[in-house]
Amino acid sequence: MKPLKNRPHVLVFDSGLGGLSVVNAIVNARLGVDLFHLADTAFFPYGEKADGDLIIRVPRVIRAGIEAVSADLVIIACNTASTLALDVVRGQVDIPVVGVVPAIKPAAAKTQTGTIGLLATPKTVTRPYTDQLITQFAKGNTVLRHGAVGLAGAAEAKLAGETPDPSIFKASMAGIFNQEGGETVDVIVLACTHYPLVQAELEAWAPRPVTWVDSGEAIARRTAFLLEGQLDADAPVLRTGLTTGGKDEATRRVLSDFGFQSTQVLSVKSQL
Ligand code: DGL
Repeated sequence: MKPLKNRPHVLVFDSGLGGLSVVNAIVNARLGVDLFHLADTAFFPYGEKADGDLIIRVPRVIRAGIEAVSADLVIIACNTASTLALDVVRGQVDIPVVGVVPAIKPAAAKTQTGTIGLLATPKTVTRPYTDQLITQFAKGNTVLRHGAVGLAGAAEAKLAGETPDPSIFKASMAGIFNQEGGETVDVIVLACTHYPLVQAELEAWAPRPVTWVDSGEAIARRTAFLLEGQLDADAPVLRTGLTTGGKDEATRRVLSDFGFQSTQVLSVKSQL
């Protein structure tokens, strides 16, 4: 039986804790919803997994999450998953699905030099979806892509209260600025939801100030639009932080410290 509710239930899904950057945007926008965060801890990180595995796993975990929390809307707060499986998920669920994909369009509007850095997972930078976004929205600009290894993990470490290895931030910035044309980059797209959580560390390793662009605010606006007429006047409530098991103790602690009222391990029927 579905739990009784009077505010829309919004499920924010990610491979790990990157969805918290989207939760932050929804909290800042004061959307009157009940928020649930689902981290697929048992399969983190997605950015280094095979597409064939992700395309099976992602819809399964999301469907289980939607059922567990009676979600009215789901946000795939993961560029790696959205650029691969957005249409597949939309075909399998009967609630609105908001995807988070690289913010190329706003970056193209902001660049003065015409050179944009795109920082994402190794998977996201190579996706046809990313190519399409660049072709459609960055005409006349140069986009320097870098697939960062270990950067999402460094963000998780920071959230868990550990000191992330600084060489990961250094290498991530060098991956953009040391490319040919890197000296003219003036905007960097943070195309992984984990990266806004370590923006200060990235800034510290950038050779000069640039404009940083992420998808958080746009996703909060889109969510508000899709739930128009259903939003409560009060601020969002952080209800439950879900994980899928594995080494998830630190994740559950972070979710609880972040303000989620409870945490829960979601059982997912998947061989992967
Ligand atoms: N947060 C995810 C993204 O937006 C990916 C992190 C990972 O699992 O590699 O792409």
